[in-house]
Amino acid sequence: MPENFTMNIAVLCGGLSPERDVSITSGVGIANGLKTKCHKVVLLDVYLGYTGEYDNVMDLFSGSGEDAVQKVGTALPNLDEIKDLKTDGSRIGDNVLDICKAADIVFMALHGEDGENGNIQATFDVYGIRYTGSGPLGSAMAMNKGVSKDLFELYGINTPRGCVLEKGKSLPDDIELPAIVKPCSGGSSVGVSIVREYSELEQAAQEAFKYEDSLILEKYIWGREFSVGIIDGETLPIVEICPKRGFYDYKNKYQSGMTDEYCPADLPGDITSKMQAAALRAFYALRLEAYGRVDFMLDKDGEFYCLEANTLPGMTPLSLMPLEAAAIGMSYADLCEKIIEVSMVKYR
Ligand SMILES: Nc1ncnc2c1ncn2[C@@H]1O[C@H](COP(=O)(O)OP(=O)(O)O)[C@@H](O)[C@H]1O
Ligand SMILES: [Mg+2]
Repeated sequence: MPENFTMNIAVLCGGLSPERDVSITSGVGIANGLKTKCHKVVLLDVYLGYTGEYDNVMDLFSGSGEDAVQKVGTALPNLDEIKDLKTDGSRIGDNVLDICKAADIVFMALHGEDGENGNIQATFDVYGIRYTGSGPLGSAMAMNKGVSKDLFELYGINTPRGCVLEKGKSLPDDIELPAIVKPCSGGSSVGVSIVREYSELEQAAQEAFKYEDSLILEKYIWGREFSVGIIDGETLPIVEICPKRGFYDYKNKYQSGMTDEYCPADLPGDITSKMQAAALRAFYALRLEAYGRVDFMLDKDGEFYCLEANTLPGMTPLSLMPLEAAAIGMSYADLCEKIIEVSMVKYR
């Protein structure tokens, strides 16, 4: 982006997904990062909208005002309480579309549900609103771990053996153990359980079905966990994720000091290049655009498995994408600008 080029940017966060708090933390970080680059920023909760008065929508992009600093707690947000703050039944809040139309681009700091499944992107396409990241098709396919798995298999990308189970149908009576159960379209490890013995399957399924009506049951891969960021058609250095206890669950993702991350990951060169190539294949198989992040497990035999692709990877201070960018000397604010720059390409 040229020096001193100021844009009006709406940073969209919040919403009604279980990852609401993570999204707000990402949004606050991104808004502050973009302000240090002299952009004019409005930070908006997609669900609650903007209920203040204004004469001219452009006045909102003044860049003034302190944004509340939010920390992700150990518990999930109380979404019923948030839902009740609005009564019109719409999942897009007051003035959100007006403000987003007025922006040069909307920075999507949303995680989960509407924000990541392509619904908002489709709405924005209809209104001619520009936004960062993938479009509706890629977002929808990456959000659904069942569809993603089918595409990974079609494109020869190794992924743990698994299947989709629907609520109300009987659970299989023969499964490969240990297994992992996760909501089909979840994120941030919400509703994910490890099943070590068959007797734990029912409970794990109930936990995942709290969030949606489809779940993924797949083989648990013992080994090391990695993630590969992609921006502008290039992979970033791989990060290794080492939770101090248990797996990379919600708490280990967002509480400082719970997980060690190593970037660039200590991996043999051939595995590094193969994993980066697989990440790019997954990215294109899912029709993703601009940027994203792909998660992997590596077993003791050196075989790696693609778990999923994230179309709107976390941008909290503890998130992996900013860490990977830092490993090539790209600051957090530079990364935010780079995401805008690569996302603008399709609108030229
Ligand atoms: N098949 C698997 N084998 C081992 N660990 C897994 C497997 N699937 C998921 N996990 C663990 O659960 C976490 C969340 O799973 P993931 O598929 O990345 O979903 P999301 O991040 O969208 O919640 C991963 O970061 C990893 O620690
Ligand atoms: Mg993940």
